Formats: sequence, C-alpha cells, structure tokens
Amino acid sequence: MQVQFTETAPTDVRLSARIVNHSSGMADLDAAIVDGAKASRFNGRTGQTFESFAMAGGTVSRIALAGAGETDAANRALNVEKAGAALVAKYLRSGETEMVVDLGHADLSADEAAAAVFAMRLRAWHYDQYRTTLAREKKVTLTKIHIVGAPDGTEEAWAEQSTIAKGVEFTKRLITEPANILYPESFVERCREAFEGTGAEITVLGEAEMEKLGMGALLGVGQGSRRESQILAIRWNGGGDEKPTVLVGKGVTFDTGGISLKPPPGMEDMKWDMGGAGAVAGGMLSIVSRKAKANVIGVMGLVENMPDGNAQRPGDVVTTMSGQTVEVLNTDAEGRLVLCDALHWAQEEYKPARIVDLATLTGAMIIALGHEHGGLFSNDDTLASQLSDAGFATGDKLWRLPIGPAYDKLIDSPIADIKNVGPRPAGSITAAQFLHRFIKKGTPWAHLDIAGMVFSDKPGHTWDKGATGYGARLLDRFVKDVAE
Ligand code: BES
Ligand code: MN
Ligand code: ZN
Repeated sequence: MQVQFTETAPTDVRLSARIVNHSSGMADLDAAIVDGAKASRFNGRTGQTFESFAMAGGTVSRIALAGAGETDAANRALNVEKAGAALVAKYLRSGETEMVVDLGHADLSADEAAAAVFAMRLRAWHYDQYRTTLAREKKVTLTKIHIVGAPDGTEEAWAEQSTIAKGVEFTKRLITEPANILYPESFVERCREAFEGTGAEITVLGEAEMEKLGMGALLGVGQGSRRESQILAIRWNGGGDEKPTVLVGKGVTFDTGGISLKPPPGMEDMKWDMGGAGAVAGGMLSIVSRKAKANVIGVMGLVENMPDGNAQRPGDVVTTMSGQTVEVLNTDAEGRLVLCDALHWAQEEYKPARIVDLATLTGAMIIALGHEHGGLFSNDDTLASQLSDAGFATGDKLWRLPIGPAYDKLIDSPIADIKNVGPRPAGSITAAQFLHRFIKKGTPWAHLDIAGMVFSDKPGHTWDKGATGYGARLLDRFVKDVAE
C-alpha cells in the first residue's frame, strides 16, 4: 500500500473518505450525505462506516465515512486506527484502486493521524502469492492512499511509525509461510535478506556448534527432522555500553507433536508454531530500522518437530546446555525444550539486563485467555508492568498469571532433574516454571505465552484473517519505553 501526503485532494480519484468523530465532523457535507448517514444510523461510533454516491460537476464520486468515536476516549489512538482500518477493509478488494482520506475533520493530533495511516497500511497487508486462480472480484485492487487534511507533523510521525508497520508485516509474512517453505534454514535466510544493510549483526549456530555447546534439549526436538536446527541471533548495538535487552523466540517451524503425535484436525495450524520467533524477528526489524538508541538482541531457537525413526521417544532423558537433565515425557511439549537451551545460551553469551521470551507454548493458554490477551509470567514486578503497559498502549494486550514454588514442584522428575510436562491443571504455568529453572538468579525475566494471539480466523483492525503480527509492535514499544 502506497501512502501519499498531499495538500489538496487529487481530482481524478473517485473514492473520497473521511474520518469523523461521534456526532461531529460532518457539518460541512451535503445534506444528502448527512441525512443518508443519519437514516443509516451512522453516527461516528468507532469502526462504523457509511457509504454514499454523489454527483458533482457531471461526475459521480463515492463518499465514505468512518467513525473514530469520542474524542476523549482513553484508547483514542486505537479507535482512530480502527476507523482507518475500517476504510481499507471496506475498499481493499472493491475494485477501487485509489482512495483519498481526509483526516482534517476528527480533531486528531499528529500521532493520532499517523495511527490512522498505520492501521490503513497494516489492514491492507495480504498474501495472495500462492493463489493463481483468484476470482477477479476477490483480488486486491486498492494500492494507493492519498492523505489530505493531516495536522502538521503527521508525516514525521508516520515516518517513525512506518518502521513499526514494516516489522509487523515481516512477522505476518513469516507466520503465513507454510512449513515446506519456511523451515529453520530458510527462516534464517529470510532474516538475512530483511536485515541486509541495516547494521544489525547476525550470528547463526548450526547443529555441530550446538552439539559442542551441549544443547541436548533443543537438538533432541530437531532430531527427527530432515531440516537442520538453527539458533539465530540478531544483534543491534544502538545503546553504547549498556547491558542489552534480550528477546528470545520459540521458532518451531512445524510442530507435529513428534512421537507424541498430534491428532490430524487442525495440525496445519502448527505452521505458525514459530510465532514467538516471528514476533522477535519483526520486533527487531522495527527496532533496527528506526535505529533505536538501545542494545537489543533477538535470539530465535529454530527447529522442526517430526516423528521419525530417529526422533526422540517419550521417556528419553536429555542433558541441557545448563547441565540440568530433562525427562521428555511428552515429545509434544517441545517448545520449552527449545527455549531452555536458547535462554541459557542467551544469558551466557549476552549477560542481559532483562530477558523476555515469546512462545506459542501451550494450548492451555488459549483455554485460559482466549484470543484477547497473551499470558505474561515473570519473576520481576517492574518488568511485568512495563510489558503490560506496552501491551495496553499498542493493543498487543497481555495478562499476568502467577508462578511460584508450589507450581514448580509439579515438574520434578523421578529419574531426572525436571520432567517436561506436569499434570493437566495449570498447564501454562508449569510450562513457565520449566523455563524459570533456566533463568539465572537476579536476572529479570518474563515469558509471554502467545499461543492464542498469532493467528486469527477473523479479521481484526490491524490484520485480515490469518497472521495477526502480534508481538512485533509490543516489543518495539517495550524497548522504546525501557531501554531508550
Ligand atoms: N505448539 C503447541 C501449543 C499450541 C497449541 C499452540 C495450540 C497453539 C495452538 C505446544 O508445543 C504443545 O503442543 N503443547 C502441548 C503441551 C502439553 C503436551 C503439555 C499442549 O498445549 O497440548
Ligand atoms: Mn507441541
Ligand atoms: Zn509447539
């Protein structure tokens, strides 16, 4: 989607839209439009849209209105985003190729106006690459938006926010790709291309290096796969000699469950079991693209979990890089096995000021929080509230759940130090406890279980159905708030 800021609306574009507030912003429009809107019960509530056709100077124009709600709403910027997104959702595949959007009738600040543009761009993102026979009416037609009436400073605010859009789009693309296309090595390749020339430093560990380091847990998960497991680290040094913030992502490019095979219905969803790594890659792209004044490293544990003659078995005991041993009771609880070695390595390698991991870790998280909040677990109240705040501000919402010694006991193993699954109750918490055992004393750590957030069967305001891009924006904001 191309975005163009102009003083006056181009005269050759038929579709003309504006964002209005609840009960204001329409006074100067033709009576036919105002009355038509009223008759259609359009009054500018958030996300509402109205369309009319009008005859002017012998040509027919198409007029659209989108509501941004009350001007004093606590989440005003998000409401403005919803208005922008509603316009794009309405016209993306409408046959119209360009749209003029007038931002001058909703009392917007520059940041709010940029937020409308941000959502228009994100809502337009789509991936039709593998559809060769898409019906003409279903093809995306809208490719250009002309912004008029934006307050001073909007273009500058958008220049900054557009780097976030770029990061979120990168996350969506990684999530959307099927697992025959996106596997550990091709994930690394995509990142090499995306970060080319940005000044970020890329480190990759292959299986031989991981074996030397003793990453028996991560390697055990990838053991049944023909694809080579990888650890990818993307490092951005923008903050002088401050201790870095480290972001760690679960990157299971496909999760069959392994020998503890998942049932067939819905297994295809497990192509997005790399959602944590996807969020880290997109967040890093945003952070790096805007040259953040912070030291941040994104570490991604990339593996494919397959059943095979060489796959690990339930009951196997593996030795992690930390030296702790794990009894693998269920090969489908593989995310924690990948993360424990990635987390340990990241702490040894980078001595972080704080470490945050993101993972599509447990189905139980979806049972607890649905698709509204990611789960947040932490050993540090300050870090937890910084993340919650960033979540609230960006719309990538988080909700904190408890951890503690009573839950920790549930994963003691009779034969090794830890077992990789606890009993059925509190499944998301015992998964977090597992990770906690690999965090060094005194290191602020948070774990975000985003299983319910990365993919959606319904469109939202910053995504069409499919990949949501969840997490990239959250991480960008979090780094901005705490490290810059
Ligand atoms: N990747 C899954 C979790 C998941 C499930 C994410 C559904 C998104 C949607 C994870 O590897 C897994 O299989 N977890 C098991 C853990 C269990 C064996 C303790 C689960 O949640 O069933
Ligand atoms: Mn699994
Ligand atoms: Zn998984």
